[in-house]
Amino acid sequence: MLTVPRHGCLDSGGLIGLNRRVCLSAERFNRTAQSTESIAAIRMIKLQDVTVVYPGGRTALSHVSLQVQKGEFAFVVGPTGSGKSTLLKLLYHEEIPASGKVVVDGRDVATLRPRDVPFLRRRMGIVFQDFGLLPAKTVFENVAFGLRVIGAGRREIRRKVPEALRMVDLVHRCDAFPNQLSGGEQQRVAIARAVVNTPPLLLADEPTGNLDPDTSMGIVESLLKINEESGTTILVATHDTQIVDRARKRVIALEAGSLTRDELEGTYGLAVVNS
Ligand SMILES: Nc1ncnc2c1ncn2[C@@H]1O[C@H](COP(=O)(O)OP(=O)(O)O)[C@@H](O)[C@H]1O
Ligand SMILES: [Mg+2]
Repeated sequence: MLTVPRHGCLDSGGLIGLNRRVCLSAERFNRTAQSTESIAAIRMIKLQDVTVVYPGGRTALSHVSLQVQKGEFAFVVGPTGSGKSTLLKLLYHEEIPASGKVVVDGRDVATLRPRDVPFLRRRMGIVFQDFGLLPAKTVFENVAFGLRVIGAGRREIRRKVPEALRMVDLVHRCDAFPNQLSGGEQQRVAIARAVVNTPPLLLADEPTGNLDPDTSMGIVESLLKINEESGTTILVATHDTQIVDRARKRVIALEAGSLTRDELEGTYGLAVVNS
């Protein structure tokens, strides 16, 4: 049972209500998902022969096919420029493929109408290298922010924010401001913000890029805990060898836009076989 600290840390701001049209759109969006859900009940992500070409002609991904099941934890690894961020961007509709199919949580992402994109993004949390916290807001308010934007009520915010902070072991810092936290703590706040609405999918793009090795392991431990406790599907793009080798989770490797390896309980480089 969670207790909300009596000092500070309680919701105080105003609410942004959802208008009726937005509610109806969300309902229709969810209905579409349910009708396709039965086809692939356990699949979260499917890329089928996906190629991405940026304006100017740069091919960032070339004929990539892969699937990620609900509840999986996987690293996407590869050197800078190999296409890791592009792969994640496809999933949240920041980029669309030149050819091939991208299916996320039962929806063909490439063919989504622009007005449906916000509803797709509500079903995923995204974490980046630069923590992106609001400097003038407390930890609690940073995590609550996304809930307020979608019109969550005060009671829901009071329930969900401490639970998200518990996942990253930061309930005790809920009154702090970002500049009072270490880099690792700031990234954990960003993770709490990403999962506060319990999205089925969490995407992290180089989440340890600005952190030292010990702190980086703490970030991965938080992500593993979320994956284990909530069943959230997690995809982490990284070129951080150490975190991948220590976690021993699925490794999807890219090189120059091509998928070169997909290994369960993998390492960053090819597995070393002891003789
Ligand atoms: N907006 C863009 N316009 C043109 N080329 C891009 C753009 N974004 C990425 N690229 C190119 O696509 C390739 C893959 O980039 P990216 O997905 O960012 O790789 P990674 O995340 O592995 O470093 C690189 O060659 C990069 O220069
Ligand atoms: Mg990148």
